[in-house]
Amino acid sequence: MKKILITGGAGFIGSHVVRRFVNNYPEYQIFNLDALTYAGNLENIKDIEKEPNYTFVKGDITDESFIETLFQNQQFDGVIHLAAESHVDRSIEDPLAFVKTNVIGTMNLLNAAKKQWLGNFDGKRFYHVSTDEVYGSLGAEGLFTETTAYDPNSPYSASKASSDHFVRAYGETYGLPYVITNCSNNYGPYHFPEKLIPLFINNIINNKPLPVYGDGNYTRDWLFVKDHAVAIDLVFHDGKNHETYNIGGFNEWKNIDLVTVLCQIMDQKLGRTTGESAQLITYVKDRPGHDLRYAIDASKINTQLGWKPSVTFEQGLEITIDWYLNNQDWLNNVTSGAYASYYEKQYS
Ligand code: NAD
Ligand code: TYD
Repeated sequence: MKKILITGGAGFIGSHVVRRFVNNYPEYQIFNLDALTYAGNLENIKDIEKEPNYTFVKGDITDESFIETLFQNQQFDGVIHLAAESHVDRSIEDPLAFVKTNVIGTMNLLNAAKKQWLGNFDGKRFYHVSTDEVYGSLGAEGLFTETTAYDPNSPYSASKASSDHFVRAYGETYGLPYVITNCSNNYGPYHFPEKLIPLFINNIINNKPLPVYGDGNYTRDWLFVKDHAVAIDLVFHDGKNHETYNIGGFNEWKNIDLVTVLCQIMDQKLGRTTGESAQLITYVKDRPGHDLRYAIDASKINTQLGWKPSVTFEQGLEITIDWYLNNQDWLNNVTSGAYASYYEKQYS
Protein backbone atom coordinates (compact mmCIF):
# COMPACT_ATOMS: atom_id res chain seq x y z
CA MET A 1 0.00 0.00 0.00
CA LYS A 2 1.43 3.35 -1.07
CA LYS A 3 0.08 6.77 -0.19
CA ILE A 4 0.59 9.28 -2.95
CA LEU A 5 -0.17 12.97 -2.84
CA ILE A 6 -1.02 14.50 -6.22
CA THR A 7 -1.31 18.30 -6.15
CA GLY A 8 -3.38 20.22 -8.68
CA GLY A 9 -5.45 17.17 -9.56
CA ALA A 10 -8.57 19.20 -10.30
CA GLY A 11 -6.77 21.09 -13.07
CA PHE A 12 -6.19 20.13 -16.67
CA ILE A 13 -3.16 17.81 -16.60
CA GLY A 14 -3.60 16.87 -12.94
CA SER A 15 -7.07 15.47 -13.59
CA HIS A 16 -5.69 13.09 -16.22
CA VAL A 17 -2.86 12.04 -13.88
CA VAL A 18 -5.22 11.46 -10.92
CA ARG A 19 -7.60 9.45 -13.11
CA ARG A 20 -4.78 7.29 -14.44
CA PHE A 21 -3.31 6.59 -11.00
CA VAL A 22 -6.69 5.89 -9.32
CA ASN A 23 -7.76 3.52 -12.12
CA ASN A 24 -4.42 1.79 -12.75
CA TYR A 25 -3.18 1.40 -9.17
CA PRO A 26 -5.99 0.20 -6.91
CA GLU A 27 -3.30 -0.76 -4.38
CA TYR A 28 -2.27 2.91 -4.00
CA GLN A 29 -4.16 5.46 -1.94
CA ILE A 30 -4.35 8.62 -4.02
CA PHE A 31 -4.81 11.98 -2.29
CA ASN A 32 -5.70 14.87 -4.60
CA LEU A 33 -4.83 18.22 -3.02
CA ASP A 34 -6.24 21.21 -4.85
CA ALA A 35 -7.24 24.75 -3.84
CA LEU A 36 -9.91 24.85 -6.57
CA THR A 37 -8.80 28.16 -8.04
CA TYR A 38 -10.47 29.40 -11.22
CA ALA A 39 -8.53 26.62 -13.03
CA GLY A 40 -9.56 23.80 -10.71
CA ASN A 41 -12.85 22.02 -11.25
CA LEU A 42 -14.14 18.89 -9.53
CA GLU A 43 -16.19 18.12 -12.66
CA ASN A 44 -12.85 17.21 -14.28
CA ILE A 45 -12.58 14.12 -12.08
CA LYS A 46 -16.20 13.37 -11.32
CA ASP A 47 -15.93 9.83 -12.74
CA ILE A 48 -13.45 8.70 -10.06
CA GLU A 49 -14.64 10.65 -7.01
CA LYS A 50 -16.27 7.60 -5.40
CA GLU A 51 -13.37 5.18 -5.94
CA PRO A 52 -12.23 3.62 -2.66
CA ASN A 53 -8.57 4.48 -3.25
CA TYR A 54 -9.29 8.19 -3.86
CA THR A 55 -9.52 11.12 -1.44
CA PHE A 56 -9.97 14.77 -2.35
CA VAL A 57 -8.46 17.38 -0.04
CA LYS A 58 -9.31 21.03 -0.60
CA GLY A 59 -6.33 23.09 0.45
CA ASP A 60 -3.77 25.66 -0.56
CA ILE A 61 -0.10 24.74 -1.00
CA THR A 62 0.87 28.27 0.08
CA ASP A 63 -0.50 27.50 3.56
CA GLU A 64 2.63 26.25 5.33
CA SER A 65 1.07 24.91 8.52
CA PHE A 66 -1.76 23.19 6.64
CA ILE A 67 0.75 21.41 4.40
CA GLU A 68 2.93 20.40 7.33
CA THR A 69 -0.05 18.98 9.23
CA LEU A 70 -1.31 17.12 6.15
CA PHE A 71 2.06 15.41 5.75
CA GLN A 72 2.25 14.58 9.48
CA ASN A 73 -1.23 13.07 9.41
CA GLN A 74 -0.94 11.12 6.18
CA GLN A 75 2.74 10.09 5.95
CA PHE A 76 2.88 10.12 2.14
CA ASP A 77 5.29 7.86 0.28
CA GLY A 78 5.30 9.95 -2.85
CA VAL A 79 4.35 13.37 -4.15
CA ILE A 80 3.46 14.25 -7.72
CA HIS A 81 3.36 18.03 -7.75
CA LEU A 82 1.34 19.71 -10.48
CA ALA A 83 -0.48 22.52 -8.63
CA ALA A 84 0.54 25.82 -10.15
CA GLU A 85 -0.56 29.06 -11.64
CA SER A 86 -0.08 28.06 -15.25
CA HIS A 87 -1.08 30.80 -17.68
CA VAL A 88 1.58 33.13 -19.12
CA ASP A 89 -0.84 36.00 -19.81
CA ARG A 90 -2.06 35.99 -16.20
CA SER A 91 1.56 35.98 -14.99
CA ILE A 92 2.15 39.20 -16.90
CA GLU A 93 -0.79 40.81 -15.05
CA ASP A 94 -0.03 39.40 -11.58
CA PRO A 95 3.50 37.96 -11.22
CA LEU A 96 3.34 37.75 -7.42
CA ALA A 97 0.50 35.22 -7.52
CA PHE A 98 2.91 33.00 -9.50
CA VAL A 99 5.71 33.45 -6.96
CA LYS A 100 3.31 32.56 -4.14
CA THR A 101 1.92 29.34 -5.60
CA ASN A 102 4.74 28.16 -7.85
CA VAL A 103 7.71 29.05 -5.64
CA ILE A 104 6.46 29.33 -2.04
CA GLY A 105 3.90 26.55 -2.54
CA THR A 106 6.60 24.23 -3.89
CA MET A 107 8.88 25.18 -0.98
CA ASN A 108 6.17 24.24 1.51
CA LEU A 109 5.80 20.82 -0.11
CA LEU A 110 9.57 20.31 -0.22
CA ASN A 111 9.94 21.25 3.45
CA ALA A 112 7.09 18.99 4.53
CA ALA A 113 8.46 16.04 2.50
CA LYS A 114 11.98 16.65 3.79
CA LYS A 115 10.77 16.81 7.38
CA GLN A 116 8.80 13.59 7.06
CA TRP A 117 11.33 11.62 5.03
CA LEU A 118 14.75 12.81 6.33
CA GLY A 119 16.64 9.86 7.77
CA ASN A 120 14.84 7.31 5.63
CA PHE A 121 14.38 8.16 1.98
CA ASP A 122 13.78 4.51 0.99
CA GLY A 123 10.82 4.15 -1.36
CA LYS A 124 10.12 7.88 -1.25
CA ARG A 125 9.91 10.16 -4.26
CA PHE A 126 9.16 13.85 -4.90
CA TYR A 127 8.08 14.32 -8.53
CA HIS A 128 8.03 17.91 -9.70
CA VAL A 129 6.10 18.57 -12.91
CA SER A 130 7.60 21.44 -14.88
CA THR A 131 7.56 23.01 -18.29
CA ASP A 132 9.85 23.45 -21.30
CA GLU A 133 9.29 27.22 -20.95
CA VAL A 134 12.06 27.38 -18.30
CA TYR A 135 14.59 26.98 -21.14
CA GLY A 136 13.50 30.26 -22.74
CA SER A 137 13.12 30.76 -26.46
CA LEU A 138 14.73 29.00 -29.44
CA GLY A 139 15.50 30.49 -32.83
CA ALA A 140 14.52 28.69 -36.01
CA GLU A 141 16.88 25.78 -35.25
CA GLY A 142 17.72 23.57 -32.28
CA LEU A 143 15.95 21.66 -29.52
CA PHE A 144 15.83 21.89 -25.73
CA THR A 145 17.74 19.05 -24.08
CA GLU A 146 17.96 18.25 -20.37
CA THR A 147 21.26 20.15 -20.22
CA THR A 148 20.05 23.34 -21.94
CA ALA A 149 20.67 26.30 -19.61
CA TYR A 150 17.59 27.81 -17.99
CA ASP A 151 16.70 31.17 -19.52
CA PRO A 152 13.09 31.99 -18.56
CA ASN A 153 11.44 35.06 -20.08
CA SER A 154 7.95 35.31 -18.56
CA PRO A 155 7.01 35.63 -14.89
CA TYR A 156 5.34 32.20 -15.28
CA SER A 157 8.47 30.50 -16.60
CA ALA A 158 10.67 32.38 -14.10
CA SER A 159 8.54 31.06 -11.24
CA LYS A 160 8.63 27.51 -12.61
CA ALA A 161 12.41 27.76 -13.14
CA SER A 162 12.81 28.94 -9.57
CA SER A 163 10.80 26.02 -8.21
CA ASP A 164 12.79 23.57 -10.37
CA HIS A 165 16.01 24.96 -8.89
CA PHE A 166 14.72 24.53 -5.35
CA VAL A 167 13.71 20.93 -6.01
CA ARG A 168 17.16 20.20 -7.41
CA ALA A 169 18.82 22.01 -4.49
CA TYR A 170 16.86 19.90 -1.98
CA GLY A 171 18.16 16.83 -3.79
CA GLU A 172 21.77 18.02 -3.68
CA THR A 173 21.68 19.49 -0.16
CA TYR A 174 19.44 17.12 1.77
CA GLY A 175 19.43 14.07 -0.47
CA LEU A 176 15.71 14.40 -1.21
CA PRO A 177 14.85 11.79 -3.86
CA TYR A 178 13.35 13.85 -6.66
CA VAL A 179 12.60 13.68 -10.36
CA ILE A 180 11.69 16.62 -12.58
CA THR A 181 10.06 16.55 -15.99
CA ASN A 182 9.91 19.47 -18.39
CA CYS A 183 7.08 19.05 -20.86
CA SER A 184 5.95 20.94 -23.93
CA ASN A 185 2.45 22.40 -24.53
CA ASN A 186 -0.34 19.97 -23.70
CA TYR A 187 -3.78 19.83 -25.29
CA GLY A 188 -6.84 17.65 -24.78
CA PRO A 189 -10.10 17.32 -22.81
CA TYR A 190 -10.63 19.48 -19.67
CA HIS A 191 -8.18 22.17 -20.88
CA PHE A 192 -9.27 25.52 -19.48
CA PRO A 193 -10.31 27.84 -22.33
CA GLU A 194 -7.76 30.54 -21.59
CA LYS A 195 -5.08 28.57 -23.47
CA LEU A 196 -4.80 28.67 -27.26
CA ILE A 197 -6.52 25.44 -28.39
CA PRO A 198 -9.58 25.34 -26.08
CA LEU A 199 -10.02 29.13 -26.29
CA PHE A 200 -10.13 28.96 -30.07
CA ILE A 201 -12.44 25.92 -30.12
CA ASN A 202 -14.84 27.76 -27.81
CA ASN A 203 -14.67 30.94 -29.89
CA ILE A 204 -15.23 29.06 -33.15
CA ILE A 205 -18.31 27.37 -31.66
CA ASN A 206 -19.60 30.79 -30.58
CA ASN A 207 -18.56 32.63 -33.77
CA LYS A 208 -16.25 34.94 -31.82
CA PRO A 209 -12.98 36.43 -33.13
CA LEU A 210 -9.86 34.22 -32.85
CA PRO A 211 -7.21 36.52 -31.34
CA VAL A 212 -3.84 35.50 -32.85
CA TYR A 213 -0.99 37.29 -31.06
CA GLY A 214 1.47 39.23 -33.24
CA ASP A 215 2.09 37.72 -36.67
CA GLY A 216 1.15 34.19 -35.56
CA ASN A 217 4.59 32.86 -36.47
CA TYR A 218 5.33 31.58 -32.97
CA THR A 219 6.07 27.89 -32.68
CA ARG A 220 5.07 25.41 -30.00
CA ASP A 221 5.46 21.64 -29.66
CA TRP A 222 2.10 20.03 -28.81
CA LEU A 223 1.51 16.84 -26.83
CA PHE A 224 -1.80 15.07 -26.17
CA VAL A 225 -2.42 15.30 -22.42
CA LYS A 226 -3.00 11.57 -21.90
CA ASP A 227 0.44 10.88 -23.34
CA HIS A 228 1.86 13.29 -20.76
CA ALA A 229 0.03 11.36 -18.02
CA VAL A 230 1.57 8.11 -19.31
CA ALA A 231 5.03 9.71 -19.22
CA ILE A 232 4.45 10.94 -15.65
CA ASP A 233 3.41 7.43 -14.60
CA LEU A 234 6.54 5.99 -16.20
CA VAL A 235 8.95 8.53 -14.71
CA PHE A 236 7.32 8.26 -11.28
CA HIS A 237 7.87 4.51 -11.27
CA ASP A 238 10.99 3.97 -13.39
CA GLY A 239 12.79 7.32 -13.56
CA LYS A 240 16.13 7.73 -11.80
CA ASN A 241 16.37 9.88 -8.70
CA HIS A 242 17.97 13.31 -9.16
CA GLU A 243 17.29 13.24 -12.90
CA THR A 244 15.41 15.48 -15.27
CA TYR A 245 13.47 14.21 -18.29
CA ASN A 246 12.20 16.30 -21.18
CA ILE A 247 8.79 15.29 -22.55
CA GLY A 248 7.58 16.44 -25.97
CA GLY A 249 5.31 15.55 -28.82
CA PHE A 250 7.81 15.62 -31.73
CA ASN A 251 5.09 17.89 -33.08
CA GLU A 252 5.99 21.52 -33.83
CA TRP A 253 3.41 23.92 -35.19
CA LYS A 254 3.40 27.62 -35.97
CA ASN A 255 0.37 29.11 -34.23
CA ILE A 256 -1.19 30.36 -37.44
CA ASP A 257 -0.85 26.95 -39.15
CA LEU A 258 -2.36 25.19 -36.15
CA VAL A 259 -5.25 27.64 -36.01
CA THR A 260 -5.88 27.18 -39.74
CA VAL A 261 -6.09 23.38 -39.36
CA LEU A 262 -8.33 23.79 -36.30
CA CYS A 263 -10.67 26.01 -38.32
CA GLN A 264 -10.81 23.45 -41.16
CA ILE A 265 -11.73 20.59 -38.82
CA MET A 266 -14.29 22.75 -37.00
CA ASP A 267 -15.89 23.73 -40.34
CA GLN A 268 -16.43 20.03 -41.06
CA LYS A 269 -17.68 19.20 -37.57
CA LEU A 270 -20.09 22.15 -37.45
CA GLY A 271 -21.31 21.71 -41.03
CA ARG A 272 -19.94 25.08 -42.07
CA THR A 273 -18.61 25.90 -45.52
CA THR A 274 -14.84 25.53 -45.94
CA GLY A 275 -13.08 28.70 -44.81
CA GLU A 276 -15.97 30.00 -42.72
CA SER A 277 -14.32 29.60 -39.30
CA ALA A 278 -10.99 30.94 -40.60
CA GLN A 279 -12.72 34.25 -41.26
CA LEU A 280 -12.80 34.69 -37.48
CA ILE A 281 -8.98 34.89 -37.33
CA THR A 282 -8.01 38.34 -36.01
CA TYR A 283 -4.43 39.45 -35.48
CA VAL A 284 -4.11 41.27 -32.16
CA LYS A 285 -1.41 43.00 -30.13
CA ASP A 286 1.47 40.66 -29.31
CA ARG A 287 2.13 39.19 -25.88
CA PRO A 288 5.03 41.04 -24.19
CA GLY A 289 8.19 38.90 -24.02
CA HIS A 290 6.56 36.34 -26.33
CA ASP A 291 8.88 33.33 -26.74
CA LEU A 292 9.42 32.63 -30.44
CA ARG A 293 9.83 28.88 -30.41
CA TYR A 294 9.82 25.91 -28.04
CA ALA A 295 10.97 22.51 -29.25
CA ILE A 296 11.86 19.46 -27.19
CA ASP A 297 14.43 16.76 -27.65
CA ALA A 298 12.62 13.90 -25.90
CA SER A 299 15.20 11.25 -26.79
CA LYS A 300 16.27 10.64 -23.16
CA ILE A 301 12.84 9.50 -21.95
CA ASN A 302 12.42 7.63 -25.22
CA THR A 303 15.67 5.66 -25.06
CA GLN A 304 15.89 5.24 -21.26
CA LEU A 305 12.23 4.60 -20.41
CA GLY A 306 10.74 3.61 -23.75
CA TRP A 307 8.17 6.42 -23.83
CA LYS A 308 6.82 7.98 -26.98
CA PRO A 309 3.53 9.69 -27.83
CA SER A 310 0.78 7.20 -28.66
CA VAL A 311 -1.46 9.42 -30.77
CA THR A 312 -0.72 11.59 -33.77
CA PHE A 313 -1.65 15.27 -33.68
CA GLU A 314 -4.48 14.59 -36.13
CA GLN A 315 -5.92 11.89 -33.83
CA GLY A 316 -5.42 13.97 -30.68
CA LEU A 317 -7.04 17.06 -32.19
CA GLU A 318 -10.01 15.03 -33.38
CA ILE A 319 -10.51 13.51 -29.90
CA THR A 320 -10.14 16.94 -28.32
CA ILE A 321 -12.55 18.75 -30.64
CA ASP A 322 -15.14 15.96 -30.30
CA TRP A 323 -14.82 16.15 -26.52
CA TYR A 324 -15.49 19.90 -26.47
CA LEU A 325 -18.41 19.56 -28.87
CA ASN A 326 -19.89 16.80 -26.69
CA ASN A 327 -19.25 18.66 -23.43
CA GLN A 328 -20.59 22.11 -24.11
CA ASP A 329 -22.14 22.19 -20.61
CA TRP A 330 -18.63 21.91 -19.18
CA LEU A 331 -17.48 24.74 -21.48
CA ASN A 332 -20.47 26.90 -20.58
CA ASN A 333 -19.91 26.30 -16.86
CA VAL A 334 -16.25 27.27 -16.89
CA THR A 335 -16.82 30.30 -19.12
CA SER A 336 -19.57 31.75 -16.94
CA GLY A 337 -18.78 34.08 -14.02
CA ALA A 338 -15.20 35.36 -13.65
CA TYR A 339 -14.15 34.13 -17.10
CA ALA A 340 -16.07 36.93 -18.80
CA SER A 341 -14.21 39.66 -16.93
CA TYR A 342 -10.85 37.94 -17.54
CA TYR A 343 -11.68 37.75 -21.24
CA GLU A 344 -12.76 41.37 -21.40
CA LYS A 345 -9.58 42.56 -19.70
CA GLN A 346 -7.25 40.37 -21.77
CA TYR A 347 -8.78 40.88 -25.21
CA SER A 348 -10.65 44.18 -25.22
P1 NAD B 1 -4.07 24.20 -14.57
O1 NAD B 1 -3.95 25.68 -14.41
O2 NAD B 1 -5.09 23.63 -15.49
O3 NAD B 1 -4.33 23.53 -13.13
C1 NAD B 1 -3.66 23.93 -11.99
C2 NAD B 1 -4.37 23.31 -10.78
O4 NAD B 1 -3.65 23.71 -9.62
C3 NAD B 1 -5.80 23.78 -10.60
O5 NAD B 1 -6.64 22.68 -10.30
C4 NAD B 1 -5.73 24.75 -9.44
O6 NAD B 1 -6.92 24.79 -8.66
C5 NAD B 1 -4.56 24.16 -8.64
N1 NAD B 1 -3.90 25.19 -7.82
C6 NAD B 1 -3.49 26.42 -8.22
N2 NAD B 1 -2.96 27.08 -7.18
C7 NAD B 1 -3.02 26.25 -6.12
C8 NAD B 1 -2.62 26.36 -4.76
N3 NAD B 1 -2.06 27.49 -4.30
N4 NAD B 1 -2.81 25.31 -3.94
C9 NAD B 1 -3.39 24.16 -4.40
N5 NAD B 1 -3.80 24.01 -5.67
C10 NAD B 1 -3.62 25.04 -6.52
O7 NAD B 1 -2.61 23.72 -14.94
P2 NAD B 1 -2.14 22.56 -15.93
O8 NAD B 1 -2.11 23.08 -17.30
O9 NAD B 1 -2.90 21.33 -15.63
O10 NAD B 1 -0.62 22.38 -15.46
C11 NAD B 1 -0.29 21.50 -14.39
C12 NAD B 1 1.21 21.54 -14.18
O11 NAD B 1 1.87 21.15 -15.36
C13 NAD B 1 1.74 22.93 -13.81
O12 NAD B 1 2.74 22.77 -12.84
C14 NAD B 1 2.32 23.43 -15.13
O13 NAD B 1 3.38 24.33 -14.89
C15 NAD B 1 2.81 22.14 -15.74
N6 NAD B 1 2.84 22.12 -17.22
C16 NAD B 1 1.75 22.50 -17.95
C17 NAD B 1 1.79 22.43 -19.34
C18 NAD B 1 0.59 22.78 -20.19
O14 NAD B 1 0.69 22.79 -21.42
N7 NAD B 1 -0.56 23.05 -19.61
C19 NAD B 1 2.95 21.98 -19.98
C20 NAD B 1 4.04 21.61 -19.20
C21 NAD B 1 3.98 21.67 -17.83
P1 TYD C 1 -0.76 29.28 -24.62
O1 TYD C 1 -1.80 28.27 -24.91
O2 TYD C 1 -1.08 30.42 -23.71
O3 TYD C 1 0.53 28.49 -24.11
P2 TYD C 1 2.05 29.04 -23.86
O4 TYD C 1 2.07 30.51 -23.91
O5 TYD C 1 2.30 28.52 -22.48
O6 TYD C 1 2.86 28.39 -24.92
O7 TYD C 1 -0.29 29.91 -26.00
C1 TYD C 1 0.21 29.10 -27.06
C2 TYD C 1 0.64 30.02 -28.16
O8 TYD C 1 -0.53 30.67 -28.70
C3 TYD C 1 1.58 31.14 -27.71
O9 TYD C 1 2.51 31.40 -28.74
C4 TYD C 1 0.65 32.33 -27.54
C5 TYD C 1 -0.41 32.10 -28.60
N1 TYD C 1 -1.75 32.63 -28.26
C6 TYD C 1 -2.42 33.45 -29.16
O10 TYD C 1 -1.91 33.76 -30.26
N2 TYD C 1 -3.65 33.94 -28.82
C7 TYD C 1 -4.23 33.65 -27.64
O11 TYD C 1 -5.37 34.14 -27.36
C8 TYD C 1 -3.56 32.78 -26.73
C9 TYD C 1 -4.16 32.43 -25.39
C10 TYD C 1 -2.31 32.28 -27.08
